[in-house]
Amino acid sequence: MIAKINQLLEEIDALTANNAEELEVLRIKYLSKKGAINDLMADFRNVAPEQKKEVGMRLNELKNKAQDKINSLKEQFSNQDNSACDLDLTRSAYPVELGTRHPLTIVKNEIIDIFARLGFSIAEGPEIEDDWHVFSALNFAPEHPARDMQDTFFIEANPDVVLRTHTSSVQSRVMETTQPPIRIICPGRVYRNEAISYRAHCFFHQVEALYIDKDVSFTDLKQVLLLFAKEMFGAETKIRLRPSYFPFTEPSAEMDISCNICGGKGCPFCKHTGWVEILGCGMVDPNVLELNGIDSKVYSGYALGMGIERITNLKYQVKDLRMFSENDTRFLKEFEAAY
Ligand code: DAH
Repeated sequence: MIAKINQLLEEIDALTANNAEELEVLRIKYLSKKGAINDLMADFRNVAPEQKKEVGMRLNELKNKAQDKINSLKEQFSNQDNSACDLDLTRSAYPVELGTRHPLTIVKNEIIDIFARLGFSIAEGPEIEDDWHVFSALNFAPEHPARDMQDTFFIEANPDVVLRTHTSSVQSRVMETTQPPIRIICPGRVYRNEAISYRAHCFFHQVEALYIDKDVSFTDLKQVLLLFAKEMFGAETKIRLRPSYFPFTEPSAEMDISCNICGGKGCPFCKHTGWVEILGCGMVDPNVLELNGIDSKVYSGYALGMGIERITNLKYQVKDLRMFSENDTRFLKEFEAAY
């Protein structure tokens, strides 16, 4: 019996098959009910009791070996089958679709470009900010009602950690590490807890500008605003400043430009006034300079902040703000020629 088992072991070791049919013949020969191994199992009854243990173990070994061998031969065929039917290495590749620059990126780069020509460099800060940089360092008193102007997202239960509501936070980040002259612009994403609609979103984009040096005056601010408006919207663009309030600037103003859609004649976009508001600005409040370690007796400065979506709307008349974040390539492709 042992001799028979050894002989079968040797045979099985040497098995090969060229295709699935041949393999099936081998399986039937060794492993089926009427196969060689089952025949031996049937003879097991006649083995002398003192040999049963050893013969039993050898029989099991034989059966496992045979099963393993058949399985591994089978795997070989199934791999071959897949590669044969699914892969066509001669087929030409799918065309690679080139993306287009996002309209907000196009406009952001234009804004950066204009300010870069005036000597401003880019500064960045975190979107997850602390209360100090978003509010306190910018002269928002703890209970100041101005904090309600912006609905803030808080991070978890810690009221000190917020998603920044404006890029003005980068002002204080720069001031605390740099002494004047400071001439920076800070483009970035900001967050406010607003219901999403065609005209509001819970995140949007701003560009902030800050200039601090000796003898900086409101005249400097006005001249930069005029130059920016003409560069961005065309040489015929007019500006006007209306008094306003921001905790971090004194005096503060909002700037309108002559509506570049109707040329100032009046249309639904400018609500028939001929003017559209595009940014907030003002002279940096001396308190803000002091809170951020800059001597307000020596230095003065101006700051301004604008929404990139708003500027983009004025340039391209995108009626629904949500388009900017939906990544619909049909919309995005419309700006292909714009850069
Ligand atoms: N941070 C203001 C906002 O988000 C915009 C702004 C207004 C920025 C006046 C300024 C400024 O730098 O001087 O509404």
